[in-house]
Amino acid sequence: MTAQARNTRKLHILTHGCQMNVYDSARMADLLRPIGYETVEAPEGADMVILNTCHIRERAEEKVFSQLGRWRKLKEEQGGRMMIAVTGCVAQAEGEVLAKRAPFVDLVVGPQAYHRLPELIAAAHRKTGTVIDTDFPAEQKFDFLPDDAAPQGVVSFLSIQEGCDKFCSFCVVPYTRGAESSRPAASVVAEARRMVAGGAREIALLGQNVNAYHGEGPDGKIWGLARLVAELSDIAGLERIRYTTSHPNDMEDALIAAHGTNPKLMPFLHLPVQSGSDKILRAMNRKHDAAKFHRIVERLKAARPDIALSSDFIVGHPGETDEDFAATMKLVKETGFALAYSFKYSPRPGTPAAGLPQIEEAVKDARLYELQAELRRQQYAFNDSKLGQTLPVLFTGPGRHANQQAARSGYMQPVVVEHSTDLTGQICEVEIIQSNPNSLLGRLVDKEKRAA
Ligand code: SAH
Ligand code: SF4
Ligand code: F3S
Repeated sequence: MTAQARNTRKLHILTHGCQMNVYDSARMADLLRPIGYETVEAPEGADMVILNTCHIRERAEEKVFSQLGRWRKLKEEQGGRMMIAVTGCVAQAEGEVLAKRAPFVDLVVGPQAYHRLPELIAAAHRKTGTVIDTDFPAEQKFDFLPDDAAPQGVVSFLSIQEGCDKFCSFCVVPYTRGAESSRPAASVVAEARRMVAGGAREIALLGQNVNAYHGEGPDGKIWGLARLVAELSDIAGLERIRYTTSHPNDMEDALIAAHGTNPKLMPFLHLPVQSGSDKILRAMNRKHDAAKFHRIVERLKAARPDIALSSDFIVGHPGETDEDFAATMKLVKETGFALAYSFKYSPRPGTPAAGLPQIEEAVKDARLYELQAELRRQQYAFNDSKLGQTLPVLFTGPGRHANQQAARSGYMQPVVVEHSTDLTGQICEVEIIQSNPNSLLGRLVDKEKRAA
């Protein structure tokens, strides 16, 4: 056995929540690799397990404690050798509670302190009991990323902005992720270049409010998202750019215009609106009304007529009447969404709406059912509308069955193409010959004729 192999420790990371957590998990693995941790698929036999958690709804939090219960058993079976760390938004919000309720957890680390992981692990080795770090340090965790990040593949995610200052009545994010902050543009561009060199063809820029991006540019000026996207689209080999999640109030003119002029910007935008009732939007502290949302959608469609939208909705926010819910249904029907996520309002400790009189569960259930039926109908109709069309798709890897390749349309639809040779990383024109609820079946039109 070589010294290298003897020193290798096994690291298992389980990620809940949003794409930003997925990105952070990959960065934690990058940080721990130089000190001897190699990632493994299963927790059995691991020296260290990390649960990267989400606090957005009550269910997400319950999942954390049941997962920790399973790992506790595993730790006992391994003679207590396995180090358990909890990171992410539950770690931030519930650090002390977590340490009390699950004292077998060795390490609790908030989302802004990941760059300190190596020293925290060393501290946890020295100490019995839980080591907690839920600081919001002055230094940015992104400044400490190693340059040799493991490639993510054809579609890569890149966090450019973190935190939120908007304080919607229902939401924990401003408390768990802290104040809004943006990475300097040069650091984002350098990471994007590395990703493209490692095989990325599509990059999704991530942020809790990604279009509030206001990073320092190399010219010393503050760059907005439109300026950053323009810079990124100069990277040769990067074919597709997306950004998520956006807030309607930060859809600046230049960004809307970019959808019409920048062919690398995909014709698909996730723009959460939450409700169609102005009264509820006010109660939610969203600071926009339904009319403003409609105006933004109209302007986006004027800039890019084939743009499709996705959104998030909450039903049963405190104060929501049948009339308010009807306004949400009206907004959905008038707008038309290619995809949407909808949730029952879940009271979160420490947020303003949690202290208000709550809507009955059965009412929330009925509203969610009705909303989801409409959103599903719209999703299927959107997929059907692509039948017979020829679309550029990006091949991401082999399909589930032999002779199949997996691809994605510009609208995030999974597309399956019958083809025997690997086309990973290529963008080709494909004719859509079948539409399924969650995917499309396509036929390669001309492999030689690549789409831009
Ligand atoms: N920054 C994004 C959303 C982040 S959270 C935005 O401003 O829209 C992702 C989604 O979770 C939200 O859009 C919202 O629909 C949902 N969500 C957040 N808090 C929730 C809560 N307390 N109950 C139910 N859904 C919630
Ligand atoms: Fe949460 Fe609102 Fe901030 Fe989005 S804008 S992260 S919903 S507080
Ligand atoms: Fe969840 Fe935190 Fe993301 S609460 S949705 S993991 S920002």
